[in-house]
Amino acid sequence: MIRPVDAIVEFLKAQEAEGVKSVYLDESARELLRQLHRQNAKPRKTPDAPAKAAPAPPRENPASRFAPSPSPVPAAARPTATPAPDLIVPDSGTAAEKIAALKAQAKGWPPAVALKSLRETMVFSCGNPEADLMLIGEAPGYEEEKLGEPFVGPAGQKLTEILRAMRLDRKDVYISNIVKFRPATPRQTTNNRKPTPAEMASCLPFIRAEVAIVRPKCIIALGGTACEGLLGLQGPVGSMRGSWHDFAGIPVRVTYHPAYLLHGQAALTDKRMIWEDMLAVMEKLGMPIDDKQRQFFLPK
Ligand code: URA
Repeated sequence: MIRPVDAIVEFLKAQEAEGVKSVYLDESARELLRQLHRQNAKPRKTPDAPAKAAPAPPRENPASRFAPSPSPVPAAARPTATPAPDLIVPDSGTAAEKIAALKAQAKGWPPAVALKSLRETMVFSCGNPEADLMLIGEAPGYEEEKLGEPFVGPAGQKLTEILRAMRLDRKDVYISNIVKFRPATPRQTTNNRKPTPAEMASCLPFIRAEVAIVRPKCIIALGGTACEGLLGLQGPVGSMRGSWHDFAGIPVRVTYHPAYLLHGQAALTDKRMIWEDMLAVMEKLGMPIDDKQRQFFLPK
C-alpha cells in the first residue's frame, strides 16, 4: 500500500518535472504535513514527555491537498456524467510556471478522456506566455500530435508566414488550441477532423485559464471552430470578421483558419481578407505598419 508521504513526494516530483517551481499549501495541507511529520518522527523518550499515540492516518489522498489556491476559473461545461475535476491555477509564480501547471493537468484530463473520441497524446501550447498576442486554433492534427506542438503542419507553416509578414516570430506570440487532443476517427492515418461541441467543452477550462494567465492585449480566433468554442458563435467566418468581439475582457479578432489558404489556389482577395484582419490586430497592438505592409495582397 502506498504511504501518504510517498504519494506526496511522487506528486511533487511530477510537478517539478513539468517545470513547476512552487506549490501553494493551504492551512489544511500544512496541518496534514504536521500530522505526517508527527507520525513519522521517532518518539522522544523523555521521562516527563511520553510519546503520544500517532494520530489516525488521514483518509483523503494527501497529494490532493497540495493544490495551489482555488481556481478562479469556472468549471467547464460538462458534456458527460463524469465529474469534471476543477482545474487548479496557481496564484503565484511566473506565467510560464502557471502554464506548465495547466499543461501537467491536461495530460489524461478526465472530461476529455471520458468522451472516448479524442486521442491520447496531449498537445498544449507554444510561444511566449507573456505575449501581447494570443492565437487560438481548433485542435492538433496529425503533424501537431507527432511533434507535440500546435500549428506545425501545413496550416501552421501558413500561420508562421502570416506572422512573419506582421514582423513577428512564433516565439513572440502565444499559440494554442481550443481542444488539446487530436480528434479521433476510425482507422485514422493522417486524416484530421473538426472537434465536436462536447470535445470543445471538455477542454474549455484550459483556454479560459490560459487567457487569464497570459492576459494578451488581443486574441485572434483562427477559423469557425475556434469562434464557436471561444465565443459561442456559429455561422460563416465572413459574418464574424471585421469587428471586435470580447472574450473575458480581451478583444478578439476573427479570421479564416490558415488552412483556408491551402486549398487550391487561394485567391488574392482571400489573402487580402486575412491580411486586413492582421492589420486591424497590428493597429490594436500599436505595432508599426509601413506602406509596403498596408499594400500587401492588393491587386497591382
Ligand atoms: N489546426 C489547428 O486548428 N490547430 C493546430 O494546431 C493545427 C492545425
